[in-house]
Amino acid sequence: MMQLDVRVRRIKRRNIKKLVKAFGEERLLRDRLGRQQNDKGVLFAAWLGREVVGMMYLWLEQAEEKAIFDNLGNVPLLMQLEVLPDKRSCGIGRQLIAAAEDELRSRGNHKQVALAVRTDNKRAIRMYEQIDFAHWKHGIVVCNAHGTYEPEECFVMVKDLTPDMVEKPRQVLEESDQRASSVWAALTLRKPGRDDVNDQREPVGAARPN
Ligand SMILES: CC(C)(COP(=O)(O)OP(=O)(O)OC[C@H]1O[C@@H](n2cnc3c(N)ncnc32)[C@H](O)[C@@H]1OP(=O)(O)O)[C@@H](O)C(=O)NCCC(=O)NCCS
Repeated sequence: MMQLDVRVRRIKRRNIKKLVKAFGEERLLRDRLGRQQNDKGVLFAAWLGREVVGMMYLWLEQAEEKAIFDNLGNVPLLMQLEVLPDKRSCGIGRQLIAAAEDELRSRGNHKQVALAVRTDNKRAIRMYEQIDFAHWKHGIVVCNAHGTYEPEECFVMVKDLTPDMVEKPRQVLEESDQRASSVWAALTLRKPGRDDVNDQREPVGAARPN
């Protein structure tokens, strides 16, 4: 697979026509642009030079599918991921998803990201699995495909965004461990004081720090 490095950016109003030209779906894309302007989501485009080669929408509103909201609450959702047919398998889909994950991490307070994918979309499912999305345990969900509004049977896949956050408590622990061991070192290295002189049988530093 040849990797194509693209620039992934949120789309600006002045570029919406380019996106529509590449992917059609004018009504849907204008709807997404409007939501982005109200900070309800982010419409990403992948640029190869001046050409738009991929797109994706990050939905930050309440999920429209009741089952998703009931099981995942206000989880952000990836939607409308698409790469131009002749640019597929070059890593662009992954770069779009990575940009959405970065956006969510920088906004904070998002522990997960989810998506719904048609049960027959083997290619996309394989990609999601490779980048650590896991099938949820609540079965198939019927989604209203945006654009066509035809019901589609979908798998829901979820990715945990917390690994960066779990690093932090570990670092804190390590720091406090270091503090504890330096206290311990100070205790064991201290010169015998009056108390130690009084009771020479007590090994120096026997009082381990709590
Ligand atoms: C799904 C889609 C967005 C992936 O974009 P992409 O830029 O091709 O994705 P990447 O190159 O980052 O990842 C490709 C992965 O998809 C899978 N894949 C790509 N081409 C494939 C092929 N010909 N056959 C099977 N799997 C394939 C593989 O898992 C591949 O990983 P690999 O190249 O390391 O083997 C793109 O195929 C697409 O636009 N499909 C049509 C729209 C769609 O189905 N969107 C998803 C809606 S949920």
